Amino acid sequence: MTRKPRIAVVGSANIDLTTFTSEFPKPGETIFGQKFDLGFGGKGANQAVAARLCGADVFMVARVGSDLFGPATIENFRQQGIDATHVKQVKGLSSGVAPIFVEPNGQNRILVVKGANDSLSPADVDEAAEVLRAADCIVLQFEIPLETVYYTVAFARKHGIRCILNPAPAQPVNLAALEGLDYFVPNEHEAEAITGVSVEALEEAKQCAQTLLTSGIRRVIITLGANGSVLASREQTIHVPPFRVNTIDSTGAGDAFIGSFAVFLAEGLSEDEAVGRANLYAALSTTGVGTQKSFYTRDRFDRECAARS
Ligand code: RIB
Repeated sequence: MTRKPRIAVVGSANIDLTTFTSEFPKPGETIFGQKFDLGFGGKGANQAVAARLCGADVFMVARVGSDLFGPATIENFRQQGIDATHVKQVKGLSSGVAPIFVEPNGQNRILVVKGANDSLSPADVDEAAEVLRAADCIVLQFEIPLETVYYTVAFARKHGIRCILNPAPAQPVNLAALEGLDYFVPNEHEAEAITGVSVEALEEAKQCAQTLLTSGIRRVIITLGANGSVLASREQTIHVPPFRVNTIDSTGAGDAFIGSFAVFLAEGLSEDEAVGRANLYAALSTTGVGTQKSFYTRDRFDRECAARS
């Protein structure tokens, strides 16, 4: 590809309120946390920023609230160089917010209040149709109404546009509506919640991916955190190994994977190479605090790749 990849994200934007703590309060108790961080987040916005930092032209379709976070979120997209023409501010709704708790080992717990994200509708997708039709890839997650997700998957299928769906956070899915989807990319918890198949061990992850393929999805990738990823198609199921890093905050690693994977695929890498590179991009994001602000620029990432090969 001689031009930059064009990635369109139809999804969420949140404000992340991250507290670093070694313990959690019991009911009625007040305790001290160690540190606090305020940042731009939301799975959709994070994936858009990762794709942008990896070098793509990125177009965001989203809704934000009529509070002080709404304009700030739109301004953040602009500052990142993301086209926010189709990011609308909705009257009478709060923006999406996410109180996040990070433990000393980097493990996170996230509570999302969807706010305006929950009002992103199929009509918004229709309004952005021109931009979406011109994309090399459309990226979706589950922090917007599922009706809008299914509608966008059908739109991508109709127009022959590659589509990646990250079913996060997990919720009951109508898999029949995803028939023909190019990439379904849950993490191990989401895969288990959606299928009911245990994903504790690598062989179980492979089995779970095969189960998901029976619904007519073309490719399944299950991300396994520090254990790499499983990539499954009807022809083969392979384990793509992880990279070792010093993790301090794993929040947003899945989003770093999705956004970078979309770009590496659009650049023409083979699927397993693209998954391997996205594994590294995601792992590196866990070495910094927060979500978007922990993502590597393309130059920095390429240097890290070269140093590790
Ligand atoms: O995947 C991390 C993201 O999940 C956070 O940015 C938070 O906003 C939630 O959407």
